[in-house]
Amino acid sequence: MLLLAATIFAWAPPAATLPPSVMSCLEKACPSQIAACQADATCAAGIKCMLACPTGNSSACVDACIKSNFDAVMLTAGLCAQSSGCLSSSAAAAVPAVSSATVPTITIAPGVEMPLAGLGTWQYNSSVAKAAVLSALKLGYTHIDTALGYDNQDGVGEAIAASGVARDALFVTSKIPGGLAYHAAGGALTTALDQLFPGDDGAYVDLMLVHFPASWDQKAAGKALRQDQWRALEAFHKGGKARAIGVSHYCKRHIDDILEVATVTPAINQVQFHVGMGAASPGGGANATDDREYDGTVGVTYQSFSPLCGPCEGSDHMELITGDLVTKIGKAHGKSGAQVALKWQVQQNIPVIPKSANPDHQRENLDLFGWTLSDDEMRQLSAATKPQVAGDAGPGGLAVSGDCSVP
Ligand SMILES: NC(=O)c1ccc[n+]([C@@H]2O[C@H](COP(=O)([O-])OP(=O)(O)OC[C@H]3O[C@@H](n4cnc5c(N)ncnc54)[C@H](OP(=O)(O)O)[C@@H]3O)[C@@H](O)[C@H]2O)c1
Repeated sequence: MLLLAATIFAWAPPAATLPPSVMSCLEKACPSQIAACQADATCAAGIKCMLACPTGNSSACVDACIKSNFDAVMLTAGLCAQSSGCLSSSAAAAVPAVSSATVPTITIAPGVEMPLAGLGTWQYNSSVAKAAVLSALKLGYTHIDTALGYDNQDGVGEAIAASGVARDALFVTSKIPGGLAYHAAGGALTTALDQLFPGDDGAYVDLMLVHFPASWDQKAAGKALRQDQWRALEAFHKGGKARAIGVSHYCKRHIDDILEVATVTPAINQVQFHVGMGAASPGGGANATDDREYDGTVGVTYQSFSPLCGPCEGSDHMELITGDLVTKIGKAHGKSGAQVALKWQVQQNIPVIPKSANPDHQRENLDLFGWTLSDDEMRQLSAATKPQVAGDAGPGGLAVSGDCSVP
C-alpha cells in the first residue's frame, strides 16, 4: 500500500478533485449531491461526493466510476475524507496500510480462525459497499461482514474479486434471515452464496449466520422453527459451503434451543455490544444482562455488532467517537475515541466489525493492536452507562445484547 500510495500521489491532481472523467460521470449520475458538494469550499468534489452520490443510487455509471477510477478515488479520499475538513496532501500520502499480520485471530470452530477486527457493511448499497470493501482490502483488512438482507452482497463480491486478494486469505461472513423452515433456509443459503461469488461452484463463506431468532416481524418464530433452520445450516456446512456456522441476536434461551438438536455447535453469536452496555458478564455488569459468559461456557464465541453504537440516536450517536470518556483515554495513548471504544472489546477477545467507508477511519479501526489499555481504563469503560443499547432492552429496561423478547 505504501508503494500504491506513492504511485497514486505521483500523478495526483493538485487540489482535492476527482479527474474530469469521473466528475462528468458523477455529475450525470447524481447532479444534486455533486452540486452541493462542489459548493463546499474545503472539500469540493472529494470522496464525500463520491460516497454521497451512490446512496440510494446504484447506477451503472457510479459503479463504473468506482471500478475504473479506484485509485483516483482513494487518493481523493485521503485528501478529503474527513467529515470535519480536508487533510493535507502530505497527510494523505502518509496513510499507510496496516499489516494483516498485526491483526490477531481467535479460533471459532475447529481449524477456523476469525480476525479480531473486520469491516461491517450494513446500510451500504452495493456501490458504497464495493468502494468500502476495496478500500479496506487495500489497507490490509481480511475480514468482511455482510448479509443477504443488506442487499449489497454483489458489491462486496465484486470488490473481493477486483482486489486480487486470495480468497483463502479472507474471512467472509454472511447471514440469512431467521424464521425460515429447512427448505426455505436452504434456498436462502444458496442465494446468499451466489450473490457473493456468482458462477463459482467451489464458493464458500467462512461464516454463515442466522440473522435473527425469528423472522423480522416475528410472525415466523419459536423453538421448532429455530431448530429446523439450524439443521439447514448444518447441511450447508457439511456440504463444504460454510467453514463455520452461527447465530445472531440470540439470547441464552435461543441458544439453548439450538444446542438441544445441534450436531455442530454454533461458532458465533453476533450481538449488539459496546461501551455503555456494561461489563461482559451475566448480571454482573453495571447495567448489562448480556450472555457473553454463558455463550463462552457452551463453546459459542461472542461477537459484537455496532461496536461504535452506529444505530444509537441523538447525543448517544457520537458518544463512542467524540465522547469525553473515550477521548480522554485516547489522548493518553495517542489514539482516537473510536479506537478506544473498539480496543475495549478486542482486549477482551471480542471480535469487532466497525463500519466505515472512510479510509482514514478504516485504518484507525484496524490499528487496535500493539498497545494496551490499563486495568483502570478498562474498568472505567466497563462501568460506563452510556450509550445504552439501541433496540431491544432487557428486564427493567437494562441493556441486553441478545433480543430476549423474541419468541
Ligand atoms: N447481526 C446484525 O443484525 C447486525 C446489526 C447491526 C450491525 N451489524 C454489523 O455490524 C457492523 C457495524 O455496526 P454498525 O454498522 O451498526 O455501526 P458502527 O460500526 O457501530 O458505527 C458506524 C459509524 O461509526 C462511524 N465510524 C466508524 N469508524 C470511525 C472512526 N474511526 N472515527 C469516527 N467515526 C467512525 C462511521 O462513520 P464513517 O463512515 O464516517 O466512518 C459510522 O457512522 C454493521 O455494518 C454490520 O456489518 C450486524
